[in-house]
Amino acid sequence: MAASATKQSLLMLASLLVLIGVATGSFYDNFDITWGAGRANIFETGQLLTCTLDKISGSGFQSKKEYLFGKIDMKIKLVAGNSAGTVTAYYLSSKGEKWDEIDFEFLGNVTGQPYVLHTNVFTGGIGNREMQFYLWFDPTADFHTYTVLWNPLNIIFLVDGIPIRVFKNNEANGVAYPKNQPMKIYSSLWEADDWATQGGKVKIDWTNAPFSASYKSFNDVDCCSRTSIWDWVTCNANSNSWMWTTLNANQLGQLKWVQDDYMIYNYCTDFKRFPQGLPTECNHN
Ligand SMILES: *[C@@H]1O[C@H](CO)[C@@H](O)[C@H](O)[C@H]1NC(C)=O
Repeated sequence: MAASATKQSLLMLASLLVLIGVATGSFYDNFDITWGAGRANIFETGQLLTCTLDKISGSGFQSKKEYLFGKIDMKIKLVAGNSAGTVTAYYLSSKGEKWDEIDFEFLGNVTGQPYVLHTNVFTGGIGNREMQFYLWFDPTADFHTYTVLWNPLNIIFLVDGIPIRVFKNNEANGVAYPKNQPMKIYSSLWEADDWATQGGKVKIDWTNAPFSASYKSFNDVDCCSRTSIWDWVTCNANSNSWMWTTLNANQLGQLKWVQDDYMIYNYCTDFKRFPQGLPTECNHN
């Protein structure tokens, strides 16, 4: 009797742990909705989050934790239909005047025309490192995984596991690299029709409002993170993990494919913009 009761409670404990394990990606546990007065919401017991935008306001959320290096995945499904003039921003940022930032921004378009994925990296409050891409799929038809892999060697932007951009640690050549300031994750859906779509020529059509973007399958397992300035959550970053990864030969091939076929803007080839010479990191790839 006693033995079987013990067995039963062990089983219950085990299933409870499984439940907790499943819940680690929960939006309730990991994020705070920070603006939009009810326009961003969490559904499906924490597994789905949506941001909406209407004529009055957009909406957004931010992570409870701060990260200092990590591999962070988020599945996002973007505003469908006529999304011209809308921007869905998904980024990591530290605070203060000399902040660091790693950006994904999705610029909407009229129905049937391609989204632009705009990326940037800020170090010490300075960006000007834009690279833009079309995607090889319709990002509004389904969820796709957008990943930031940020370690001491490089920052890798990935889409469905395919690297699209690498920002290397070029401190040896005098380029600042984000490595000291913890960053939070932020995301928002907002209106930017003065610049977002076809250079600002196409405005938002409010008859399509509310616009909506959805998020699921957040994963920050093994990231180095903290919930307050005192409590670092241990990161499982051994020598074989994401912590010391750079692109392998296969991934370099994928990066080349994306950059050859889908990149539409690269600050490192914009000689007109930098008549005095390209930024240093452009010559050290
Ligand atoms: C929208 O579509 C036009 C026409 O295909 C294209 O030039 C532009 O890059 C697309 N994306 C944005 C965000 O303007």
